[in-house]
Amino acid sequence: MKIIILFLIFSFIPQIHAEDIYVTSLQNLSLAQKKGITLQTVSKNQSGLVAVKMTEKQRKTFAQVMHEEKHTCGGYTFAGTEYKADLLDQSLAKIFNFADFPVFDNKEIKNQVHVNKVRSLLSADRYKNYIQNLTDFPDRAASSNNGVAASTWIMDEVTRIKESFKAENLSAFYVSNSRYPQKSVVVTLEGLSAEKPGLVLGAHMDTLKRNKPGADDDASGSAAVLEVLQAVLSSKVKLDRSIYFILYSAEEVGLVGSRSVVNHFKNNKMQVEAVMQLDMIGYQPTKSIQKMHFVTDNTNVSLNNYVKQLAKVYLNKTDAQLLDLKCGYSCSDHARWHSAGFPATFPFESSFSDHNRSIHTSRDTISLVNIDHAMQFVHLAAAFVIELGEPLN
Ligand code: BES
Ligand code: ZN
Repeated sequence: MKIIILFLIFSFIPQIHAEDIYVTSLQNLSLAQKKGITLQTVSKNQSGLVAVKMTEKQRKTFAQVMHEEKHTCGGYTFAGTEYKADLLDQSLAKIFNFADFPVFDNKEIKNQVHVNKVRSLLSADRYKNYIQNLTDFPDRAASSNNGVAASTWIMDEVTRIKESFKAENLSAFYVSNSRYPQKSVVVTLEGLSAEKPGLVLGAHMDTLKRNKPGADDDASGSAAVLEVLQAVLSSKVKLDRSIYFILYSAEEVGLVGSRSVVNHFKNNKMQVEAVMQLDMIGYQPTKSIQKMHFVTDNTNVSLNNYVKQLAKVYLNKTDAQLLDLKCGYSCSDHARWHSAGFPATFPFESSFSDHNRSIHTSRDTISLVNIDHAMQFVHLAAAFVIELGEPLN
């Protein structure tokens, strides 16, 4: 029955360019395996359905096996599909989490000229100045006037940037939430192919209440988002994909701002190819010198590997310098994207056990931010948006 429903769903997905991922049952898969068809499973769910990679040739053999063994038409035991969450019917997203799919495997790194042009325009001084401006607020709490003022300051800064670069393809809007007065800011740099799924570079603007400078958590990430935006604009590099630069409100009170932002994207059918979260990039314990850590939970393995490749190519990192860490809970806004089916990645300043113990206190000041360490992540973020953004000129 489920298979038939799946078939019906798939057959109504109109001419989406089909990738080589198919859905079938575990039972059919083992039948195929007995007949010598070896398929790579990319996702499984609780009710015995699997998503597998198949070449066209394998697909034909598979159909034949189904026909011979089960006396059914191959067609309704599996189906070809585009596997990007944002292109799929919601009912499919419930069967699999498409945020887990290996969309970035074997993806080439081929835009060195454009990436390096943008990187050459990144400024550590301007970045530091952004952190200074953000930490000048006594706090940036989602519930406080200071937090609201910080959100307004960010929107005003985006307007200043837009005017100074005369960037006509740049726009920004607020996303509110029902619980706190502080609003998220979503900045869109529209790509030439606006129908292609875009990229998200995000950080959270808020802190907890009262005397919380939140320099590392997360002015360090927020400043990075603004810094990459400026460098992209000043490079005049034209991108095929749209980039969404997002400063989330109300993260510290339960990922409230990002929940509304992700809902806004879903409700408006705004498609997203990949999401990078920057939350705490400036604290460098001795053990983390020259290292980058990648959050493994609520992120996409294939995207994490791809971004590690970017770090190797652009920042000369070695495997030994690219490490993993696990939060063990939904520790930041990336989790909202992940559970909504969007592939996410989350590079981080240190290992979990060495993490900055001054966060969420009055001691989280700019003096604890190592600008050189943070700039490594800013460069990585620039490589992420430009490499995946498909530069044209
Ligand atoms: N930046 C932290 C998350 C974090 C802290 C990651 C330490 C890795 C190491 C984030 O702003 C935060 O504080 N998150 C909350 C959870 C959230 C759902 C309220 C947390 O970790 O308690
Ligand atoms: Zn944080």
